[in-house]
Amino acid sequence: MDVTTAIETRRSISKMQDKPVDLFDIEDILQAGCWAPTHYKTEPWRFHVFAEDSRKILSDIFVEGIKVKYQTSELLDAKVEKAKNAPFRAPVVIAVTCKLEEEFQAPVWEEYAAVSCAIQNMSLQAHALGLSSIWRSGDFTEFENAEDFFKVDKSKGERIMGYLYIGYSNQPEGSVYREEPDWKLKTKFY
Ligand SMILES: Cc1cc2nc3c(=O)[nH]c(=O)nc-3n(C[C@H](O)[C@H](O)[C@H](O)COP(=O)(O)O)c2cc1C
Repeated sequence: MDVTTAIETRRSISKMQDKPVDLFDIEDILQAGCWAPTHYKTEPWRFHVFAEDSRKILSDIFVEGIKVKYQTSELLDAKVEKAKNAPFRAPVVIAVTCKLEEEFQAPVWEEYAAVSCAIQNMSLQAHALGLSSIWRSGDFTEFENAEDFFKVDKSKGERIMGYLYIGYSNQPEGSVYREEPDWKLKTKFY
């Protein structure tokens, strides 16, 4: 698949088949992430892979975080149920965190930018392999218990950048539509 086709036809897919993903494909996707640009050669991305049975670990983390956040809310039960099932929406979930180096402190925004590039590389690589993906954020990127698990030091500026869900699409080809964006609306030539 050429780059233009990959960029234009990659879509965020939320409904995945139960079909497992080959480990070699996961490794290719992780390697594509590592090819992302990194200004200070710090390679600040860290990947935490949950596939098949180990998704239960993530499910427990999500549930624990939800219980803290919504402990006094009447939505608690519904939120817990949703969190419990969340990692099982795809056969593979990769939590992506941003690691900042101790000695040399690059501008934090540049490190987030590098990790974001890594995630996009991974999405495109998955797409080129015939897989689908979706980058998810929300509550689960903010929970303290998840930060502890991933050894993310928020006081230093480190953070959970998101969860990349990967699997085979369960949505008919072409059914996830995105209107073609118009670069002219975002651009000024000088
Ligand atoms: C930083 C970031 C966080 C995202 N978080 C979510 C999310 O929590 N839930 C979700 O359904 N999609 C999430 N997305 C995916 C966007 O919804 C998706 O990219 C957008 O709808 C455009 O669709 P496309 O990726 O198919 O082009 C996220 C995307 C980015 C870049």
